[in-house]
Amino acid sequence: SDIGKGTYPFYMLKEIDEQPTVMRKLISTYTDENGKMKVDPDIVKAIQASDRLYIIAAGTSYNAGFGAKAMLEALTNTPVELGVASEWGYDMPLLSKNPFFIFLSQSGETADSRQVLVKVNELSLPSLTVTNVPGSTLSREATYTMLIGAGPEIAVASTKAYTGQIATLAFLAKAVGEAQENPLAFEFDLVKELSLVAQSIEATLSEKEKIAAIVKKNFLTTRNAFYIGRKQDYFVAMEASLKLKEISYVQCEGFAAGELKHGTISLIEKGTPVIALISNNEKVALHTRGNVMETVARGAAAIVIAEEGAARPEDDIVVNAVHPYLSAISMVIPTQLLAYETSFQRGLDVDKPRNLAKAVTVE
Ligand code: G6P
Repeated sequence: SDIGKGTYPFYMLKEIDEQPTVMRKLISTYTDENGKMKVDPDIVKAIQASDRLYIIAAGTSYNAGFGAKAMLEALTNTPVELGVASEWGYDMPLLSKNPFFIFLSQSGETADSRQVLVKVNELSLPSLTVTNVPGSTLSREATYTMLIGAGPEIAVASTKAYTGQIATLAFLAKAVGEAQENPLAFEFDLVKELSLVAQSIEATLSEKEKIAAIVKKNFLTTRNAFYIGRKQDYFVAMEASLKLKEISYVQCEGFAAGELKHGTISLIEKGTPVIALISNNEKVALHTRGNVMETVARGAAAIVIAEEGAARPEDDIVVNAVHPYLSAISMVIPTQLLAYETSFQRGLDVDKPRNLAKAVTVE
């Protein structure tokens, strides 16, 4: 059933495995039989009337906002600003003339996010909640709702909600872009591209043993690790490191690859795992490889996760190529598996890490 673990040792692994299905389901939710966008036209109009999108979220949902930012900006031609919910609840920063707020929340119950929504409503500003839980508080209190429809997420560490949120925002971005007659939006064949994403995820899911071996070699005793990447890969690095920290208790930082040398590289010691994320972005791939070499020269155990096209034969994991707008979805999958395996091989309770709750309803 939907909420049983079946033969899985932990919900997290089940939920990781469900992601191709979540992608395909989103296609049927947000497009009609001709592949045309099926997004609430009122949401599209509200965003068209806005001069800036403010994405407010916490934890993994916050990272998902970053994963969608470049795509949203390109397709809607509107600047996107991200806000950590727990910070924005106090004083709002200076807002643009016509702000539109997007709340990302798997549970729809996060108190920090709600605190911001209360302010937004006091200011009578329009808002959208993207959530996995119909009827949740954030859904009821925002002007509009878009559902991820990923099915119940039981493991505390969020996986399918992250990828589902980015995919949901892709439909929104394309719908708004088309309404604005942005050629980029028409060129972006989301039905095809998201199907390719589902296939790419499936290909990565078949690499579990390889990832388990990497973990066995590098992650069983280490106390710290780094994920590095540039641009979109940096945002995935943030989520990848959060996932590893949450369930394996390995201290891990997601770092902009080029920024590491400006101080933090002093933490690299013999054997420190440094995982580089290199998606198919010609402009930055070579520079990230240079940054990997800098850490190797200081003794780091480098692991490279590269997208097909940017990959080299010696790379550890190769991810099937997807449209650059959607690369946060495909590139995060091996990092979810790496976090899972590290927690599992260390004998920890993957689904219920210490000190954490699935939804935090206190500020
Ligand atoms: C908690 C969970 C995180 C989650 C965050 C935001 O801290 O442990 O996994 O990302 O809340 O939750 P939300 O339901 O708002 O996406």
